[in-house]
Amino acid sequence: MKIKPLADHNDVLPLLTRWYQTEWEPYYGVDGPGDAQTDLESRCNYEEFPIGLVAIEEGQVCGTVALDLDTATNLTPSVVGLLVGRAYRGRGIAAALLKSAEDLARRLGYSRVYMSTTVLGDLLERMGWHKSAEVEFLNAQRGLIYVRDF
Ligand SMILES: CC(C)(COP(=O)(O)OP(=O)(O)OC[C@H]1O[C@@H](n2cnc3c(N)ncnc32)[C@H](O)[C@@H]1OP(=O)(O)O)[C@@H](O)C(=O)NCCC(=O)NCCS
Repeated sequence: MKIKPLADHNDVLPLLTRWYQTEWEPYYGVDGPGDAQTDLESRCNYEEFPIGLVAIEEGQVCGTVALDLDTATNLTPSVVGLLVGRAYRGRGIAAALLKSAEDLARRLGYSRVYMSTTVLGDLLERMGWHKSAEVEFLNAQRGLIYVRDF
C-alpha cells in the first residue's frame, strides 16, 4: 500500500465523493450542508492547505485523509476527513494515513498537529498524541481534541 498526494490521483475523486456522502450522510448527503466533491477537489494541493492524501493498494484507492483548518475547532493544521473504504478497514490503513499526515505537517515546517475525533482516541494515544480539550461537533456530538507535538 502506498500513500500519495490526492493531487496525483484526481481520478479517485468520484469514488471518494460517494464514500463521504454515504459515511457522513447528515453532512454530505443530499439534504446536508456540505459538498463532498467541492471539499475533496479543494484538497488537490501539494504545499498549501488543504492538502489531501490517498492510500492506494494495487491501483485501487482504499482511504483518504487531509490536513486543513478544522472548522469544528478552528485549529490548524488539523487532520480532517479521515476515511477508509468499508472493504479495507481493520488493516491499519487509518494508522498509516495518520502517520503520513503527521510526516507531511512536519515536512512543511509545523511542530504540532491537531485532530478532533469521537472514535480514534485509543489509536492516537498509541501513536503519541495526547488529549487537550473537548469539542462539540455540528451534529451536537461531543468529541475530543488530540494534539501531536513533534
Ligand atoms: C475510523 C476508520 C478511519 C478506521 O480505519 P481503519 O483502517 O479500519 O483503522 P485501523 O485498521 O488503522 O485501526 C486503527 C485502530 O483504531 C481502532 N478503530 C478503528 N475504527 C474504530 C471505530 N469506529 N471505533 C473505535 N475504534 C476504532 C481499531 O480497532 C484499531 O485499533 P487496533 O489496532 O487496536 O485494532 C474507519 O473505520 C472509517 O473510515 N470510519 C468511518 C469514518 C470515520 O469515522 N472517520 C474517523 C473520523 S475521526
